[in-house]
Amino acid sequence: MTAQSLTESPATPPLVERVRQDFPILEKTVHGHPLAYLDNAASIQRPLAVISRVDAYEREGHANIHRGVHTLSQSATEAYEAARAKVARFLGAQREEEIIFTRGATEAINLVAQSFARPRLREGDVILLTEMEHHANIVPWQMIAAATGARVVAAPVTEEGELDLERFGTLLREEPVKMCAVVHASNSLGTINPVQKLVELCKTAGVPVLVDIAQAVPHGLTGAYAAGADFVVFSGHKVFAPTGIGVLCGRYGTLETMPPYQGGGDMIERVSFAGTTFKAPPARFEAGTPHISGAIGLGAAIDYLDSLDLPALYAHESALLRYATQRAAELPGLRIWGTAPEKVAVFSFTLEGAHPHDIATFLDTDGIAVRAGHHCCQPLMQRLGIAGTARASFAFYNTFEEVDRLFRGLHRIARIFG
Ligand code: ALA
Repeated sequence: MTAQSLTESPATPPLVERVRQDFPILEKTVHGHPLAYLDNAASIQRPLAVISRVDAYEREGHANIHRGVHTLSQSATEAYEAARAKVARFLGAQREEEIIFTRGATEAINLVAQSFARPRLREGDVILLTEMEHHANIVPWQMIAAATGARVVAAPVTEEGELDLERFGTLLREEPVKMCAVVHASNSLGTINPVQKLVELCKTAGVPVLVDIAQAVPHGLTGAYAAGADFVVFSGHKVFAPTGIGVLCGRYGTLETMPPYQGGGDMIERVSFAGTTFKAPPARFEAGTPHISGAIGLGAAIDYLDSLDLPALYAHESALLRYATQRAAELPGLRIWGTAPEKVAVFSFTLEGAHPHDIATFLDTDGIAVRAGHHCCQPLMQRLGIAGTARASFAFYNTFEEVDRLFRGLHRIARIFG
């Protein structure tokens, strides 16, 4: 397609126009312009179905869970546990008890690092990551390495933003790897890693593997656990649920071997000053009063997804990414970062002469929300030799017209800074 023919954007499908009506925030104006929300990788917006479910719970259903014999406590417990069952089905878990609610993917990774990896690691052991990990999948491992004398080794990423699979395999074979943690879809570049292959390589090497699926699930990639990962983690707020709720999913037999991560109420069998015994998972890992409304909201988000024509919507999301990628050719100073053939709808770029933060600030004056910076991936930015990028990340409620507005803004920025 030539740049000339691109001036006419494809029509946004009626299905997408309908879905947009589920998201009240999309009616907002920012600086006098309709909001074009292209920061979905940072946090996606909430549909009315989730907002209403959380609202109904807060108005009519709230009580503490697992603790009361009274009606409200029982119904809140049922709603919370029903959300766990929905997440189990969503991920293909073998049983509901494999689902642990956490504050987010970050807490879930810290839990695995502290409760699973720490007791198993010895001096000189290797924790294998990749150069494209989010800080949430780096720093907890560095903390464990510091505590145990283990080393963190990162498998390299190519200039195109793809994982060097051959090197990953070599590291698994040649280094004393005892734990592996990899991202399914990169939040900063969009690269989709071949998760089945990665899990297979880890299994062959006898290495437990955690897969961070936080940026994969919003795009329908929920198969890492079914593919054999020992643990998967994600955050609710990236998949239409509230903030402050996340999930760790792990093999039940493994969870049973792990000590608690935090101590407190609801995770104990019996407490005395002589000693304390702990409940079985998942309760063992959910100390204190949890984010009940968040879990219920996550259940509602899964119900919402179930109600949609997802194949058509994910195809639309991919079409938005293709369209943006094609339009990039109009701007000679624009460079796309992350050109892997398999990508989620993340469009990360730099524009010659313009700092990513200036790009984001200028676009905001047009009502267009994008993220700028290192995207919590400083080691990846160092590998690519850049300080950061501007990033437009699409959800299935975005439109071609919003991509057009993005490019009108970028042309304006190029004229000012070029
Ligand atoms: N991990 C989130 C992002 O990519 C915050 O923006």
